[in-house]
Amino acid sequence: MCGIVGYVGYKPVLDILLDGLEQLEYRGYDSSGIAVQCQDKVKVYKAVGKLKNLREELSPHAYEISKSTTGIGHIRWATHGAPTVVNAHPHTCNCGKLVVVHNGIIENYKELKLNLETKGCKFVSQTDTETVAHLVAQKYEITKNLTEAVKLATKEIEGAYALAIMHSDEPNKLVVTKRNAPLVIGVANNEFYAASDIPAFIKHTNRAIYLSDNQVATMTANTLKIEDIDGNIIEPKIEILPWEPVALSKMGYKHFMLKEIHEQPDVIRNILVDKLHSSELPIILDEVKLTKETLKDLNRIQIIACGTSLHAAFIGKYIIESFCAIPVDVEASSEYIYRKTVTDSHTLVIGVSQSGETADTLTAVKQSKERGSHILIITNRPDSAMAREADSLLSVNAGIEVSVAATKSYIAQLTSFYLLALYMAEIKGTMKPDILENLKHEMLVLPQKIEQILANKDNIRDCARKYSGTRDFIYIARGINYPTALEGALKLKEISYINATGYPAGELKHGPIAMLDETMPVLSILMKGCVYDKILSNSEEAKARNARMIALTNSSDKKLDDLFDFIIRVPEVDELLSPIIAIVPLQLIAYYIAEFLGKDVDQPRNLAKSVTVE
Ligand code: AGP
Ligand code: GLU
Repeated sequence: MCGIVGYVGYKPVLDILLDGLEQLEYRGYDSSGIAVQCQDKVKVYKAVGKLKNLREELSPHAYEISKSTTGIGHIRWATHGAPTVVNAHPHTCNCGKLVVVHNGIIENYKELKLNLETKGCKFVSQTDTETVAHLVAQKYEITKNLTEAVKLATKEIEGAYALAIMHSDEPNKLVVTKRNAPLVIGVANNEFYAASDIPAFIKHTNRAIYLSDNQVATMTANTLKIEDIDGNIIEPKIEILPWEPVALSKMGYKHFMLKEIHEQPDVIRNILVDKLHSSELPIILDEVKLTKETLKDLNRIQIIACGTSLHAAFIGKYIIESFCAIPVDVEASSEYIYRKTVTDSHTLVIGVSQSGETADTLTAVKQSKERGSHILIITNRPDSAMAREADSLLSVNAGIEVSVAATKSYIAQLTSFYLLALYMAEIKGTMKPDILENLKHEMLVLPQKIEQILANKDNIRDCARKYSGTRDFIYIARGINYPTALEGALKLKEISYINATGYPAGELKHGPIAMLDETMPVLSILMKGCVYDKILSNSEEAKARNARMIALTNSSDKKLDDLFDFIIRVPEVDELLSPIIAIVPLQLIAYYIAEFLGKDVDQPRNLAKSVTVE
């Protein structure tokens, strides 16, 4: 996690760094810092907490650094050492001339540190990053050239890093490098930007170079040299980014999360526009490079993901198994990578990740690729490291998601899973044509149904108000909506810090029922279909223990009025598509409860949007 920014050019650097960091706040926000070149010195400023604290820290110094046109900045999500001023980046070498910001983990930092200490380096922080400052400085004593020193140092570093480094003896120069962590260079006239992600500089330029692992870029205001760590020159490949800076504004909504929830109907429309034209026509998925033969040859699918993407994966399993009759395993990436997994060229491995950066999923994907599996990546970031590993790339095109809690990217992942499952079913001929046609028709009208939910959100808000004082929350569902219960609970946990858990409704009586009493809200997801009656019975069991019962349903069944204290009704939909409808009220409940509790909705504590460490 963490966000790094760098700038070298002719404009005052301070606002560029602070604005850039603000756009990267979704990556971490426990402390921040900048280093700027002021004549022959580099000056470092740091603060604990949100970026506004750094702005306050800087305000008395604004004049003295106003002329500086080169600098680096960092927003931290601590991995090594508490979020304190000393541990905040940038880190410096002992003479203070070299400064570094880092995203990632230096895995061999202990060995490096011991070695550097024996050579006289004095460490002041608990971070792994500080070793980089001392190590590069040590190499600099030999090379007297920052780029060469960085190349030598990175040969000794193990782990993941994106680094931006400056040295006061080489003023107005920036050296950046990366391995297994994102870093992109923004190119403009007589100025260069470097950042962990595009939002940091998109308002200044839409021309970018994605640095590959082990490449080192050296920038001054009007020169750029990229080489690998062995010194081979790399020809820069400039890409034009299809990004609009407006995507980074709240557009009148109080929070990004609320805006992103409201974007969901359009997200689905955008995905379907060139893939599903009508219920009578076949689905077009040119991105999927599996041939008919390979598809028929597949004996197994594995889906790997984390967090919200893992919940989308569970629904993916359900529909691929029902539509295509291929066995599917789903596993949290962090578990998948540390056991002996049986994968080969007859297994399709699907990696799901909003950010395309999640370290666990990226590692899992790389492992399966080595074993010869076809890799299909479902991501919101076609420019990400994971996308670059894909044999087939399904880009979900949800647009930038700023709020740390994923909403529209989840809906987009689900929509993509439905398209994929239906596409494979069409090729394999595993579904009855009338069922297939009906589902395609229903998919096309999903956006209007979500719009109906959003238009009637006052009832959901009332529900949120009624239950906002609770300490715990239970969500129950069965079948295809069990993952919806997990995702609803995760949303609430993430942004309100209420202890929320999703259970398969049938499991309630095997343990969790012991927790039920008149203080416990139980939300039942009751979508019409094969398990409706079963969940109804499970809800009765909960009611008999005096739980505070809430229904999320698309049924007009009068029986529900007696059983439930609060009912949220959503439009009718085929059970197989109901997860796309059912999740929307749950996102809104989580949002409004967090809002009523005065929580920081878009940047919940301890979380970061891109988890680039394992
Ligand atoms: C979602 O609300 C969470 N912030 C988190 O669980 C997230 O889904 C998880 O970290 C995976 O991220 P990814 O989709 O970018 O891989
Ligand atoms: N390991 C560094 C630190 O804790 C960087 C953290 C990160 O990128 O997540 O300061």
